[in-house]
Amino acid sequence: MKRYLVTGGAGFIGSNFIIYMLKNHEDVEIINFDALTYAGNLNNLKSVENDKRYSFVRGDITDEMAVKKVFDENEIDYVVNFAAETHVDRSVTDPLVFVRTNVLGTANMLNNAKQAWTLPDGSFKDGVKYLQVSTDEVYGSLGPDGFFTETTPLDPHSPYSASKTSADMLVKAYHDTYKMPINITRCSNNYGPFQFPEKLIPLMINNCLNHRDLPVYGDGLQIRDWLYVDDHCKAIDMVITSGKDGEFYNVGGHNERTNLTIIGTIIDYVKEKVDPTVSEALIKHVADRKGHDRRYGIDPQKIKDDLGWYPETPFEKGIKLTIDWYLDNKDWLANVVNGDYEAYYDKMYGNRK
Ligand code: NAD
Ligand code: TYD
Repeated sequence: MKRYLVTGGAGFIGSNFIIYMLKNHEDVEIINFDALTYAGNLNNLKSVENDKRYSFVRGDITDEMAVKKVFDENEIDYVVNFAAETHVDRSVTDPLVFVRTNVLGTANMLNNAKQAWTLPDGSFKDGVKYLQVSTDEVYGSLGPDGFFTETTPLDPHSPYSASKTSADMLVKAYHDTYKMPINITRCSNNYGPFQFPEKLIPLMINNCLNHRDLPVYGDGLQIRDWLYVDDHCKAIDMVITSGKDGEFYNVGGHNERTNLTIIGTIIDYVKEKVDPTVSEALIKHVADRKGHDRRYGIDPQKIKDDLGWYPETPFEKGIKLTIDWYLDNKDWLANVVNGDYEAYYDKMYGNRK
């Protein structure tokens, strides 16, 4: 039996990870520690809330005493730190909350894990590990050629990616200084069920379904490398149990597409399946994001060679699963936007030019 402390487990990837782990392993226990910010939603975990192996603690990863209490009351084997502020646009307008949660929060998680796991001789207990869920955005932006490898220099541009990079450096420091057992995963853009409708794919799906403009930043030719969320969960699962101590692993499935291609795919499926009047006429080019990274592309060779990971869900399948999920889960969305998508959307984005 292994006991996981999963932070940010009520968010998009964290909740998919908890569901994935409880489905694929008998011998796990999961404590979900989450502050329930705007991005956290316990409805994501309805399917597992009565599972005896799962429990929820509401708390903030920057709160020293709250995190200590979880470690004091439970023997934790693994920490998986998903908790973060995650939306680049929000980081441009409100950077400080990103520094607080992503940097200070990570430091607090590391410090509490260290205190709980250090033996009297200064070494760490056997079988424990801290896994930091990081992002390919720490590497900055690519030109038309090449990929991010684990040795690509760090070159973040947004307050979001700068805060994630800082957190990675703290994790590395705990390994280098105290020999704390750690891994860092750096994954490309995820998509799938339970993603908050501020990120590209869920925003475009729900705007199509609600016949709203589809706001494309700049020319829409920026490239992201998309991975179905379950494939990211599988990678994290493998890195926790088999990742070599102190190593960083890039995670991605060589699935690069421009934003306009992604939007076109969503339009085509919604048009065919739901509403023949949805069309490219909904696309509206708006002002570009400040400091907008042009291209991300992951080289996943290391995690493939070392751990045997590979992505299982081709984009054509994953995007249909995702759109179908939003169609079948209108209650989930209504809850997230307080019942009125149009009002929510106008409040958040109504003034885009
Ligand atoms: P999300 O925004 O959907 O969820 C974040 C979760 O963290 C929420 O449940 C929120 O309530 C919680 N949280 C925020 N601040 C907290 C705090 N101070 N204390 C405790 N909980 C707090 O995020 P996501 O898209 O699921 O991303 C999860 C992690 O994966 C992040 O660390 C992110 O950097 C990383 N990541 C995301 C992607 C992606 O495409 N979404 C890709 C690579 C890496
Ligand atoms: P996003 O989902 O915010 O992820 P990230 O910036 O972390 O990669 O955005 C993905 C891409 O889509 C990015 O190039 C910005 C672009 N984008 C738009 O063009 N319009 C939008 O409304 C949003 C949210 C994003």
